[in-house]
Amino acid sequence: MTVPVPDFPILVDEARVRKRIAEMAEALRGDPELRWVAVLHGARHFADALCRNLGRPAGEYDTVRVSSYGAGTVSSGRIELVKDLSSSPEGQRIAILEDIVDTGRTVHWLRERFLERGAQSVEVHTLLSKPSRRVVEVELEGVGFEIPDEFVIGFGMDVAGRFRELPYIAVYDESIERASRSA
Ligand code: IMP
Ligand code: MG
Repeated sequence: MTVPVPDFPILVDEARVRKRIAEMAEALRGDPELRWVAVLHGARHFADALCRNLGRPAGEYDTVRVSSYGAGTVSSGRIELVKDLSSSPEGQRIAILEDIVDTGRTVHWLRERFLERGAQSVEVHTLLSKPSRRVVEVELEGVGFEIPDEFVIGFGMDVAGRFRELPYIAVYDESIERASRSA
C-alpha cells in the first residue's frame, strides 16, 4: 500500500539542496585529517550526500546520536548522548555534521563535550540554520541555508520519525497532514 505524500509547501527543492551540498563539499574537499561526525538520525542524509561529494582522501566518518526532542516539534532543552563516537575524540579535529541548528543547544553541547574529552578542534557544518531561534550562540563554519522560523521536514528531518525520506525540504503543517490522511 502506498500512502500519498501530503502536499507540504516546499522550502528548498531537491535540485537546490543537492547543488548547495556539492558547493559545501567543494569548500571542504580533501582534508584527510578531519573526523566527520554526523548527528543521527537527522543529519544522515546530509552527511551521506556531503561525503559522497568530498572526494578522497576524505577523513574518517563517525556518528553520534543525541536525543532532545522527544516526539514533539519543540525541544525539551535536555540533551542526552544516546550513541557515542566509536573511539575517543582526543587529539582529533572534529567536524560535526548537523541537519539543522535551531536553538543551538545541541551543537553547543556536543562541541563542549568533544573539547572536554580532548578534541583538538571542533567545527560545525549544518545543512540548515534558523538564526532567529538561537538561544545559545554558536559558531557555524558551514551553513547550507538560513531559513525562517518554520518547522521543516525532509532530507533527513522528521516530525516524530515521519517524512525523513522526502528528497526535498518542506514546511511541516499538521493540518495538511491530517487532510491528506482523511482524503
Ligand atoms: P537545537 O538543539 O535546538 O539547535 O536543535 C537541533 C535539533 O533539533 C536538530 O538536530 C534537529 O534534529 C531538531 N530540529 C530543530 N528544528 C527542526 C525542524 O524544523 N525540523 C526537524 N528537526 C528540527
Ligand atoms: Mg539533528
